[in-house]
Amino acid sequence: MGSTSVNLSGWELDNPVIPASGTFGYGKEFSLLYDINCLGTFSFKGTTLEPRFGNPTPRIAECTSGMLNSVGLQNPGIDHVLKKELPEMKTYFKKKVIANISGFSVFEYGEIARRLNGQEQIGLLEVNISCPNVHGGGMSFGTCPEAAAKVTEAVKAAADKPVYIKLSPNVTDIASIARACEEAGADGISMINTLMGMRIDLKTGKPVLANKAGGFSGPAVFPVALRMVYQVYEAVHIPIIGMGGVSSAEDVIEMMLAGASAVQIGAANLTDPFVCQRIIEKLPDVMKKYRIESLSGIIGGAHRG
Ligand code: FUM
Repeated sequence: MGSTSVNLSGWELDNPVIPASGTFGYGKEFSLLYDINCLGTFSFKGTTLEPRFGNPTPRIAECTSGMLNSVGLQNPGIDHVLKKELPEMKTYFKKKVIANISGFSVFEYGEIARRLNGQEQIGLLEVNISCPNVHGGGMSFGTCPEAAAKVTEAVKAAADKPVYIKLSPNVTDIASIARACEEAGADGISMINTLMGMRIDLKTGKPVLANKAGGFSGPAVFPVALRMVYQVYEAVHIPIIGMGGVSSAEDVIEMMLAGASAVQIGAANLTDPFVCQRIIEKLPDVMKKYRIESLSGIIGGAHRG
């Protein structure tokens, strides 16, 4: 059997399969369905300094080949995560986890990073500067290279864990933002977050989502995500965690050929809670089919030759 292990800034993962933030909570509910220790790791729900109730409902809308969400970063806040979620997580997840963090000011990002830094359970910080569903934070930092660099610098100053910046696709030139993060000290890039979208209910003539617009994800966005990962791989020298519409072992391999060192699975967890387990089981067969001996050896393969 070929080797599925991959490395993120010195952290060795058994395989590249990582449930994406916001689709896996803190892992507890999924651990009741299967042994989630088969995962490379997972990225926990975007956590803010204060608890957040999130946006008004409806905040989910189905679309052809995907879905819209406007959850609004609902989460219990960093104190609760430190006191309750992380200690409890130790009972059902024996690996390190990715801490996805969000903020409404540069200070907040730095402060959350500082509080998480001492936690040995955290493998890396994934800094979300790309949430399209909140005002005054989230995506506003991720659409401007200078603001993205400021957040990166603040988190790097507050933490010595690897820092991966999660980028928005809702920009003209994602490579310039990735470069600004790298120059500011980022250890890696996570990409892509959701694409801004909208639906209108024909019965009411009004937007389906209470927040009017939301983030579009699911299989329909896969080619867009793949193209952006390919572009950013050429623009930076740091690892990329690729995501966006991934739902099969073949998609994982395609994403790695584009340049991803590991791959997150988001919306697919919501239609099939077992999807990550199935992808991990299937990877060796697909590797054999395409004569791949080592997954880490194919990273960026589409750029070579
Ligand atoms: O609205 C949300 O909680 C989604 C967050 C994100 O896409 O980053």
